[in-house]
Order: sequence, then C-alpha cells, then structure tokens
Amino acid sequence: MQERTDDVHENGFSDHVLVCTNDRDSEYACCAEAHGSEVYEAVKSWLRDRGVFWSRVHVVETGCLGLCSAEGTAVAIHPRNRWYSDVVPADVPSLLENEFGPNATQLGGDTTTR
Ligand code: FES
Repeated sequence: MQERTDDVHENGFSDHVLVCTNDRDSEYACCAEAHGSEVYEAVKSWLRDRGVFWSRVHVVETGCLGLCSAEGTAVAIHPRNRWYSDVVPADVPSLLENEFGPNATQLGGDTTTR
C-alpha cells in the first residue's frame, strides 16, 4: 500500500463529482433506471468542454449515495459536501455552473458553509 495524498495534491486535484449509476434488481428505485449513465456522460462532457476533465476534477460512477429516486440520478460533489437528487441530463449544465462557475473557474474551495 502507498499513501498518495501528496501526489494527488501536487497534480492539482480539487474536486470529485460522484454520479450514482447504481442498478438493482428490486422494486426500489435506482439511478441506473433514472438517467444515471446519461447524467454521468453529461457531467464529463461539460467538464471536457471547459478543459478541466481529469485534470483538477475527477468524475466517478458510484454505487448508491442514499438519495434514490425514480425521477433522476443522485450526484455528490466533494470536498464541498454538496448533494443532489433527481438530476436529469438537462439539469447538468446549470448544476455544474452553479457549483463551478460558467467556465469552471471556481474549482476547489470549501463551500460547506454556504
Ligand atoms: S441508487 Fe442512486 S442514490 Fe441510491
């Protein structure tokens, strides 16, 4: 095992966007059936279009974030501790613009107190 915290910080990492794409074979709602993959792709596209994908921001498909809904996907943004549910692809531009600014210039920073 290697502890790589300093490496990640030196690479300029600032934000993690977690997009739930969890699937489950049950009667309960899951993000895989509520646009999970489309939201994941929309997040990547928005960041790519602004030249920050896989540089300062890492986007991760994740399992259940505990905000399951049949209406849309769950998204969490860390380290700012922001949580969304019911996200559909059309919401992604405004969600990310609100978090990171129109040109993704407001990366990093702790906004947990806002
Ligand atoms: S299945 Fe996505 S938050 Fe639970």
